Amino acid sequence: MKDFEYFTNMASEDPEGFWATRAEALDWFRKWDRILDETSTPIPTWFEGGRINATWNCVDRHVASGHGEQTAIRFESPFTNCSRTLTYAELLDRVSKLAGALSKRGITVGDRVLIYMPNSPEAIIAMLACARIGAIHSVVFGGFAAAELAVRIDDCEPNAILTASCGIEGKKILPYQPIIEDALNLARYTPNFVVFWQREEQPANLSGQPKHNAAVIDWNAAIEDADPVDCVPVDSTHPLYILYTSGTTGQPKGVVRDTGGYLTALAWTMNAVYDCPSEATFWAASDVGWVVGHSYMGYGPLLARCTTIIFEGKPVGTPDAGIFWRTIAQHKVRTFFTAPTAIRAIRQADPEASFLKDVDLSHLKIIFLAGERTDPDTLEWLAEKVGVPVIDHWWQTETGWPICANPSGIELLPVKAGSTGPALPGWHVCCLDDRGEEVAREDTGALAIRLPLPPGAAPTLWNAADRYHQAYLSRFEGYYQSGDAGFIDEGGYVHVMGRTDDVINVAGHRLSSSAIEEILAKHDAVADCAVIGVADQLKGELPHGFVVLKAGEPREAAVLKSELVAAVRKQIGPVASFKTVHIVQRLPKTRSGKILRRTMRQIADGQPVSIPATIEDPRVLDDYYQLYAAVC
Ligand code: COA
Ligand code: AMP
Repeated sequence: MKDFEYFTNMASEDPEGFWATRAEALDWFRKWDRILDETSTPIPTWFEGGRINATWNCVDRHVASGHGEQTAIRFESPFTNCSRTLTYAELLDRVSKLAGALSKRGITVGDRVLIYMPNSPEAIIAMLACARIGAIHSVVFGGFAAAELAVRIDDCEPNAILTASCGIEGKKILPYQPIIEDALNLARYTPNFVVFWQREEQPANLSGQPKHNAAVIDWNAAIEDADPVDCVPVDSTHPLYILYTSGTTGQPKGVVRDTGGYLTALAWTMNAVYDCPSEATFWAASDVGWVVGHSYMGYGPLLARCTTIIFEGKPVGTPDAGIFWRTIAQHKVRTFFTAPTAIRAIRQADPEASFLKDVDLSHLKIIFLAGERTDPDTLEWLAEKVGVPVIDHWWQTETGWPICANPSGIELLPVKAGSTGPALPGWHVCCLDDRGEEVAREDTGALAIRLPLPPGAAPTLWNAADRYHQAYLSRFEGYYQSGDAGFIDEGGYVHVMGRTDDVINVAGHRLSSSAIEEILAKHDAVADCAVIGVADQLKGELPHGFVVLKAGEPREAAVLKSELVAAVRKQIGPVASFKTVHIVQRLPKTRSGKILRRTMRQIADGQPVSIPATIEDPRVLDDYYQLYAAVC
């Protein structure tokens, strides 16, 4: 642990010196005045006064230094049977022209641009085009329905939307035009224009008369018609993007990401954590709509001048459980990153890993997993079958990059299944009790991070600095509250065990149980409801709903259940994977009316049940024991 300790001590004893050295790896138009501004609110900010541009650092500087012919992006879409590559020079051409098309229509520094696109090079081009001209992008995951899109439109008030004519999910073609139109009809705010990237599987109708007032534009025509524009230097603290994530209420939180600090942290992690040097191939099998997609499908690998793979497919069924291994072999992937759910799906379909027999994975050095807890069994199976280290690492949309990991590029530490490794330099992870006191090693508590947070961590929430303070800084003074519980072992490794709030994690996707409850509660038959995350062998957790019907409700239970499932799918989207609703007589509550979700979860998961002394009527639980009798 010698080398790692050296870095950790340096970052902790002299954080400003440590991060200033890391920032030197980037091109700055103007150097910063102050490295760390402790006076800034709600949390300290990095590299105040510096001027930088993300796209310049991800694309232009590589072309300028003679690497234009290197492959920047490989697109693999088993959904459409399409493979494409883009060199850094081609990427520069597309990005600067799309940026030109946006500028020509008035988009400028600080304007928001919402991106609702499938996993594709075009989504990355869209992000980089915004960054090029200082527009703030906000990517919304394609699995969210119109109502969720509308909430985000109203919150960030985008001047433009960049989208595609359709997404593709296996054999399903999902037209985006109706989703965009519904969202714009629901939203209070209307952008000036919407650009459609036309896909041949289902082009959008661009000549019709939409009900909204936004102009509708064809992506290719806009680009052909535009002159390329140069990168615009922006403040280091300028928001590069807003990424919405689920909180404890139905209203998503717009996590803001600054530019200079984020790029500094990402560039450093590409080597220190992921051990992926320039020219090597990095593959994060995630989606552009999630933070992993932003940090390690887009910005991180491009900053490091790696080749990044964009994959539009599933780990299984497109066409089989060997697709990940064949893609890794074909493109000589060095570092691979995916979610534990994907590995569980592959294992379920191919328990003996027979698809590994015919592939050459000799270039693969290491696999990283994140997004949810990795059960030791899955981690060990994968490490044994593939024969490379498998690293579980912990992070959040808010942090932008990993908090804890095995720092394989500095030194590969012993892997402990069930743990996410030690805190990386810059993150002071502590395990606290309810009073904010540090608990003993191995004891469970709330995982919190002592301030200041390192560069790249979200400095605020969009239009909601107070909410940032309330959600993350108010519980433990001087600390960022992660919302996760766990423990730190004797060796300093952090074990993340689950959320302390009502956020649930479905297939590595973060969802708010309150958002689902709000939809159930609106149904005219429902008097009361609760939603909990129940352990699932494939997706980690699945949301289960419990509804109490209004007295005298005449409709059949099966009809009501399917209406409730359909309502959640329509309003949140298929990504919620909401398929289970139980009609119950009563919800278990305390005498003060608080729903005992933790107790419900314990019963559903077949775990030892702790019943608070304040329960109103313990007999209510009998129904729940019966519902989950098979697991108990
Ligand atoms: N656009 C539209 N719909 C989408 C979508 C998208 N981008 N992504 C998922 N969906 C839909 C799916 O089609 C599915 O719809 P259905 O109910 O009609 O079948 C639903 O949302 C749930 O999708 P998913 O959770 O992906 O389940 P699945 O059964 O299709 O696939 C796995 C199961 C395990 C293969 C899949 O969940 C997976 O690959 N998980 C890994 C997730 C991941 O990489 N997360 C990144 C975190 S770092
Ligand atoms: P998201 O913001 O969508 O990336 O989700 C972040 C949340 O996912 C964290 O707060 C954790 O609850 C969970 N999470 C992410 N990575 C891990 C991990 N390696 N182990 C356990 N939980 C994780």
